[in-house]
Amino acid sequence: MSTKDLVRIREGATDLMVPRGFCGRGPGKASGDVFYNRQMEFSRDVSVMLGSVALEEGSRALDGLAASGVRGLRMANECGSGARFTLNDRSAEAHELMLRNAELNGLTDEVTTCCRDLRALLAEARYAYIDIDPFGTPIGFVDAAVQSCSNGGIVAVTATDTAPLAGTYPKTCLRRYGARSMKSAFSHETALRILIGYIAREAAKHDRGIEPVLCFHADHYYRCHIRMRNGARRADQSLERIGYAVADEATLRRGFAEEVSEASREFAGPLWTGELHSGGVVDSLAPTEGLGTRRRCEKMVDLWRQEVDAPGLFFDVDELAQRSKRQPPRLSCLLEGLRAHGACASPTHFAPKGVKTDLEAEELLRLFVELSVP
Ligand SMILES: C[S@@+](CC[C@H](N)C(=O)[O-])C[C@H]1O[C@@H](n2cnc3c(N)ncnc32)[C@H](O)[C@@H]1O
Repeated sequence: MSTKDLVRIREGATDLMVPRGFCGRGPGKASGDVFYNRQMEFSRDVSVMLGSVALEEGSRALDGLAASGVRGLRMANECGSGARFTLNDRSAEAHELMLRNAELNGLTDEVTTCCRDLRALLAEARYAYIDIDPFGTPIGFVDAAVQSCSNGGIVAVTATDTAPLAGTYPKTCLRRYGARSMKSAFSHETALRILIGYIAREAAKHDRGIEPVLCFHADHYYRCHIRMRNGARRADQSLERIGYAVADEATLRRGFAEEVSEASREFAGPLWTGELHSGGVVDSLAPTEGLGTRRRCEKMVDLWRQEVDAPGLFFDVDELAQRSKRQPPRLSCLLEGLRAHGACASPTHFAPKGVKTDLEAEELLRLFVELSVP
């Protein structure tokens, strides 16, 4: 790309040349230009926070679908981990631009660049961190990534095909992920769990287990950071945590089940029923001064910490209010009230009015009415 088609910007502490007409919001499209989406800055800020605690000196990290190189360059520049980064994109234009951006930041010694098909690259080498940030679904790369990742390493995956995963196109979800998706008040959670479950099943084929380190929904995408563990026993343990989400619209009951009958109407899965984050990692995340989305990072880290031990499948205050025909209390009052009754209750990053609790729907509705504004 000629310089007149580019504009210089700064993300975090990293300078970048990106196409003048870059995407500002939403998933963006595969167009003629090298891809850069400003809205994904939050996701990249999270990568910088996570890389600062999870990457080790001298370990090999791969930004496999790097486009302008922004994510890998930021991690190499801002994590302070001493990991050695490879940036890859099969587009020659993207490769030219990431090289230019590496030079702009004086990172040519720390960073290597490639212009290859990611699957071929993953078949040739092992990495301790692999980032897969595609247009739409990541399914074409997951099998190669789980094989290439070293024992104890992390595979980071973005999925922007939210409509199939969250139940708008269940047939597409079944084709892509081998799982049924479901529309519900908590469909972003089942969607994320379908994605993790898919990664767990792909890993298990190769006798590898998974540990979710940090998995979340934001804006128009799902993002998973998954640690790989070698061994058939680990793989079996992961598969034991695959099940189904079942729901009953009439009672608002919801929960996980090991099996579902084909006749069941309201279910999603197979999906991951275990934890979404590692408490140890989430506790270590530090939203530092230089992050452009620092405030959002602080808010999210706080929510992720509160969610670590919370039960799965949240309730939304609006569905409780609608069902009980009551004005909802403030979320903080509801959470305090539930805890005062001995229940486990936490907010969730999935929804501003979401509540994670161990209460059954009937008991939750009873307490909701008691705590609601008359
Ligand atoms: C959504 S963009 C990546 C965005 C980038 N990670 C960022 O943070 O700005 C996806 C990129 O994947 C590249 N790509 C698609 N299929 C590929 C493949 N099989 N191997 C390597 N690169 C590929 C495209 O050229 C495109 O630049």
